[in-house]
Amino acid sequence: MTDPLDFLDEELAGLDAASLRRRVRSLSSAQDPEVVLDGRRLVLLASNNYLGLANHPRVVAAAKQAADEWGVGAGSARLISGGVTLHDELERRLAELKGQADAVLFSSGYLANLGTISALVGPADAVFSDELNHASIIDGCRLSRAGVHVYPHRDVDQLEKLLSDWRRDHAGDRALVVTDSVFSMDGDLAPLPDLADVCEAYRAILMVDEAHATGVVGPEGRGAVAHFRMEDRVPVVMGTLSKALGSAGGFVAGSASLCDYLRNRARAFIFDTAMPAPVAAAALAALDLLTLEPGRPERVRDRALRLHDELRLLGYEALAPDAAVVPVMVGEAQVAVDLAARLLDLGVLVPAIRPPTVAPGTSRLRCTVMASHTDDHLRRAVDAFAACAP
Ligand SMILES: Cc1ncc(COP(=O)(O)O)c(C=O)c1O
Repeated sequence: MTDPLDFLDEELAGLDAASLRRRVRSLSSAQDPEVVLDGRRLVLLASNNYLGLANHPRVVAAAKQAADEWGVGAGSARLISGGVTLHDELERRLAELKGQADAVLFSSGYLANLGTISALVGPADAVFSDELNHASIIDGCRLSRAGVHVYPHRDVDQLEKLLSDWRRDHAGDRALVVTDSVFSMDGDLAPLPDLADVCEAYRAILMVDEAHATGVVGPEGRGAVAHFRMEDRVPVVMGTLSKALGSAGGFVAGSASLCDYLRNRARAFIFDTAMPAPVAAAALAALDLLTLEPGRPERVRDRALRLHDELRLLGYEALAPDAAVVPVMVGEAQVAVDLAARLLDLGVLVPAIRPPTVAPGTSRLRCTVMASHTDDHLRRAVDAFAACAP
């Protein structure tokens, strides 16, 4: 008799054959510019710890102190008994950062997108989504059961066409336009002012995912919505605490009504145990550091531009970064895997990004820089790329 789970090994063998098998690597050190992997010290060009705060002494101290005071596990969802005053304070501070009236916390950015999109639109409605949006947006769209209309990357004319066609037959239904503000695998910015124009013309809700912009882009790292001074034109601003803010968890900022609606309707909020207090305290300390040491966002953007310029000089097809992500396009998955392996041998850890994360034929090395990278770290990284130059 055949084992009904035989497909597992068959599928894994298929992934191997296509150079698409993924394996978890386990570091034996913190997320610093240099990490230890299998006993070797490597320059890390793979982390979203953009401001270097995940291991900052003040952030770590805040988490420790909160663990002493509040314990670790939250014990239940916030609507049951898991809410503590730290959550309220963090929501207030995130609302302030984003120039909004209120904010609501989720346990992760992934859940924030799932919970918010599925609460805002349903089967009679429609979502319009950039083709390069993050998987958590795609999954939120699927979960909502709304009609999903994918528009070409940053193509506002196409979006307008799709939206106007749909609106003609759906006068009373809800339309949601959702986009990353900094695209996670391409590092470019969404055309937020043009998107807002289209949303306003066709009565669509605009939702912007600031996962890679928060802490990196805009005045004091307040994000791309603030960069374009569009706080009053983007009603749904989503973000994560897990990247530049060095902690974990997601949030949505917007009007008091939006946040209260989500606390009542977003299943990923209602049915999920609250964020642990040490995690919330760490994010609060990171927000303090954004104000106390305001040079970090600019420093990380400068590092990204420098890395981009140096890689271009070496002949690599590095895409111009709007934030901290510097993609180096290579094409086929196997080429990306081989290049990442050579760089690893030379002491640089950078991930090969392949389908299904990106479209076939667009595999790349996704370099990410941190404000805590020194000139020497970047020099070592560039030297390794030089040794593998095309
Ligand atoms: C654009 C975008 N949105 C949402 C998420 C999910 O955030 P989190 O890792 O906090 O779940 C990510 C991160 O992976 C992301 O890149």
